[in-house]
Amino acid sequence: MKVLLLGPNGQLGSDLQRAQQAAFHSELTLTPISREQLDVANVDSIRSALSQLSFDALINCTSYHKTDEVEDNATLAMTVNAHAVQALAEVCTEKRARFVHISTDYVFGADAKRNTAYAEADPTGPVNVYGASKLLGENLSRLANEDLLVFRVASLFGVSGASGKGGNFVETMIRFGQERGALKVVADQIMSPTATADLATLILTALSREVPAGIYHAVNSGQASWHEFASAIIELTGIDASVTPCSSDEFPTRARRPAFSVLNNHLASKTIGTMRPWQDALQAYLKAKHYI
Ligand SMILES: NC(=O)c1ccc[n+]([C@@H]2O[C@H](COP(=O)([O-])OP(=O)(O)OC[C@H]3O[C@@H](n4cnc5c(N)ncnc54)[C@H](OP(=O)(O)O)[C@@H]3O)[C@@H](O)[C@H]2O)c1
Repeated sequence: MKVLLLGPNGQLGSDLQRAQQAAFHSELTLTPISREQLDVANVDSIRSALSQLSFDALINCTSYHKTDEVEDNATLAMTVNAHAVQALAEVCTEKRARFVHISTDYVFGADAKRNTAYAEADPTGPVNVYGASKLLGENLSRLANEDLLVFRVASLFGVSGASGKGGNFVETMIRFGQERGALKVVADQIMSPTATADLATLILTALSREVPAGIYHAVNSGQASWHEFASAIIELTGIDASVTPCSSDEFPTRARRPAFSVLNNHLASKTIGTMRPWQDALQAYLKAKHYI
């Protein structure tokens, strides 16, 4: 199976390449398509850039996802996260190729009282422009391509660090912990921390098993507030720093964040495979980066 990979240098993109090279998925070949080869913000160039290529599937890891910056750049967000996604889905339909797209837990959040993990069929309701643009991307690509796999993922950490965000939360907590010795971290936003290494394996497994089209929630199991996640990072690395909980009000941000956006993985567990608890994934990440 020939698979094109857009966004190959990001956290997830690089772990997809690592997972494929680990020979667990030798039946797949991954061809990276960098931003230099195709800038998806230039939507009109998508068809011509891909028309000469032959492929059976395309995985789209591109995204404009600096959540606060996106609030003031809705046009670019809609272009990259929705209209480009629609164009990619259309090209895949023409090529009879499977389209694999990565979405987010931030399609949820409007239900302020929610405290149980979201299933795929639960009503969406973003609370920021980024979430709205990703939701539009899901919907437009679903209209354009019936053989669509959408993976809603969350709070990613991968050894390459998010190129679009400048690092990842784990690295930021380690740096701040070492530099400051005291951290204050929000405790009123609950989410699903997820290792891109585990996600990459799940996505390649889904492709190679030719699982049914649809939306799949794909996160490490369990849930955490950012404070709990930071505490685990500091404890596991043995950094001498305090981690104090605080409320989101103490750290006002340009974009609103969901208070609760935990995803329920049952569908992926039944159809593709289980994902281990985030604590185990975090430990593996810290070992891979030689922090422990
Ligand atoms: N990070 C998270 O916490 C998180 C949470 C929920 C959902 N997600 C979703 O998960 C997916 C992967 O995230 P990630 O953390 O792996 O992202 P990332 O590290 O920022 O990587 C994004 C990749 O997309 C490429 N890209 C961005 N804009 C592009 C454009 N206009 N044209 C071509 N390529 C472009 C980047 O290229 P360059 O290397 O050239 O910049 C990079 O390779 C995204 O869809 C994101 O929305 C992420």
